[in-house]
Amino acid sequence: MKAREIRKDIYWVGGIDWNLRNFHGYETPRGSTYNAYLVMDDKITLVDTVKYHLVDEMLERISSVVDPRKIDYVVSNHVEMDHSGGLPRIMQLASNAAVVASPQGERGLREHYRQAWDFVVRKTGETLGIGSRNLAFVQTPMIHWPDNMVTYLPEEKILFSNDSFGQHIASDERFDDELPLDISIEEAQKYYGNIVLSYNSQVQKALEAVKTLDIGLIAPSHGIIWRSYIAEILKHYDKWAYNRTDNSAVIAYSTMWNSTYKMAKAIASGLERRGVRVRMFDLAVTHISTVMTQVVTSKYVFVGSPTMNSNLLPVVAGFLAYLRALSPKKRVGMAFGSHGWGGQGADQVHAGLAECGFEMLETIKSKYIPDEQALKVIEEKTATMPLPGGDE
Ligand code: FEO
Repeated sequence: MKAREIRKDIYWVGGIDWNLRNFHGYETPRGSTYNAYLVMDDKITLVDTVKYHLVDEMLERISSVVDPRKIDYVVSNHVEMDHSGGLPRIMQLASNAAVVASPQGERGLREHYRQAWDFVVRKTGETLGIGSRNLAFVQTPMIHWPDNMVTYLPEEKILFSNDSFGQHIASDERFDDELPLDISIEEAQKYYGNIVLSYNSQVQKALEAVKTLDIGLIAPSHGIIWRSYIAEILKHYDKWAYNRTDNSAVIAYSTMWNSTYKMAKAIASGLERRGVRVRMFDLAVTHISTVMTQVVTSKYVFVGSPTMNSNLLPVVAGFLAYLRALSPKKRVGMAFGSHGWGGQGADQVHAGLAECGFEMLETIKSKYIPDEQALKVIEEKTATMPLPGGDE
């Protein structure tokens, strides 16, 4: 396996994880890559490594350019093991190399690997000369861990952005103009919704810093490299980070005997009548990470559960826990659900959505099976109820 040159003397030397289908709970039907980059200069520099099981692949790609033992610096933009998993092998081979990391990165790597490596610690605004080029560092804490930073190569206008702007796509194509753009943007949105969303305020700060740079390539640590559609991905990140949603609704529910499903359909009809675009998901058949992709751009998040054993259904509880942890802001929520006698399921959904900080609409409940008349009432109510901020 060979390196791919992305600029003169700068190579992609990552690993392709074709079979990845779950990334710590996030469904990844397209697999992923762990991107590492080799900069050939007076000081040979590797930017990030790969997950442990693809280290041999990375070493093979590096060896197609240079003997890995000659590496001088390994920049670790992020401690998480999908990017640092190859560090122990590289540092064993390149015995004179130093690890370049943020202060939190140094601490995290020491706590992960407990090795007496040489560290070069850099903070925002600090640089490191590697010969004819310089590395400049910007700390981006919480995108995705406290240790994160991005590395900018001004002479080449390359931003090594690590998790930011990444997408879980396994492909032989390396650049955004080599794959259909819709796929890359959708996967970037899914990545944002499931990995980055809870850190929106930190993303806003990072975006402001990134906008001051002259960028010709954004080289993230997952998926394709942005070169032809940099403005597009920055525009989307701006929208997602600043919670600018569309006039659309996620209706996520689960059902026992189709009554809550019928209510979901009636609510969808009501929303469609007022021009709100609907994305409807049965949580028993759709993975929560796919639902989150749509939450990123939806103003309304309506969640339904019947009542079982005086509780909401477990798949709905799981979705609410996931949603709360990812904490999207400025959303409007509504609970609904059918029940036989207690009706606690919909109440618990309401409480769960309120805990997310959503502006809540009145809960809609139905006893046993909603008949046609009851469904008409639900549709009419959804079509006419006042919505916070009004329809757009
Ligand atoms: Fe791709 Fe936060 O690791």
